[in-house]
Amino acid sequence: MVDIHCHLVPGVDDGAESVEAALAMIEQARACGVTAILTTPHIRGRLDELPRHAHHKEKFQLVLDRRPAMDLYLGGEVRATSETREVVTRKEFTASEQSKYILLEMDFDQVPPYFSQLLFDYRLAGIIPIIAHPERNMGVLRNPELALEFVRQGAHLQVTTGCLLGELGESFEACALALVESGLVSIVASDAHNVKTRPFTSWPGAYELLKEMEERTRNFARPIVADRMVTENPLAVCEGRPIPAIELDEANLTAIRKRLSRTGKPSPAKRKRFFGM
Ligand SMILES: [Fe+2]
Repeated sequence: MVDIHCHLVPGVDDGAESVEAALAMIEQARACGVTAILTTPHIRGRLDELPRHAHHKEKFQLVLDRRPAMDLYLGGEVRATSETREVVTRKEFTASEQSKYILLEMDFDQVPPYFSQLLFDYRLAGIIPIIAHPERNMGVLRNPELALEFVRQGAHLQVTTGCLLGELGESFEACALALVESGLVSIVASDAHNVKTRPFTSWPGAYELLKEMEERTRNFARPIVADRMVTENPLAVCEGRPIPAIELDEANLTAIRKRLSRTGKPSPAKRKRFFGM
């Protein structure tokens, strides 16, 4: 499995506090079956944050110098702001400064009014936005069809392993499951910050759940392929290769809207797990 969203650059955000802590996180990820990591320190999408990126590179190098047993890439989790339009052509925040993708997060309370324009600007600049944890955004929770619109604009969605398992609350879980069952999710990632409170350990359970959902795929709006979400697509992001576009015809759209309108209702996968306990 390949994790494209986590915070192990030491001492730069609310993730790993030291090189030792970063190495412990890498070891935990490896034990959970992760083979490559794109680490994504928080950064605001603004010109005046470019020096901060240079600082991230220096700290990331301290981890590389210890030669951990993991393929490591540096990117960023870019907080979208009204000024982010000014940096859409800059590659600094993409994986290894050369990927075609950018991991974008929104403020949690809403989908910002400029967000659709920002997605358009990124696509025009040849960079594909990946929306970090849409299932945790209040605007998407209130209206899950907004996530469908992101995908229709050419963005990819990344949901969080812990949300799929309900570790971060029922509403996030319901939204994450609805997005996966709708076939709108390209990538699953941990958003790990440390080894205790926000660890990598939800990876095996999330993978098992996705495989279970794949077997039930005929009930869902679009086919689900677990390995594509946990390995193939995230590795393509690290290496700057294309991810298959999500093409939606009218029948898909009808099925997806129907599923999204049921967000919060138990999914077949959820029911199976419940009765299996
Ligand atoms: Fe994050």
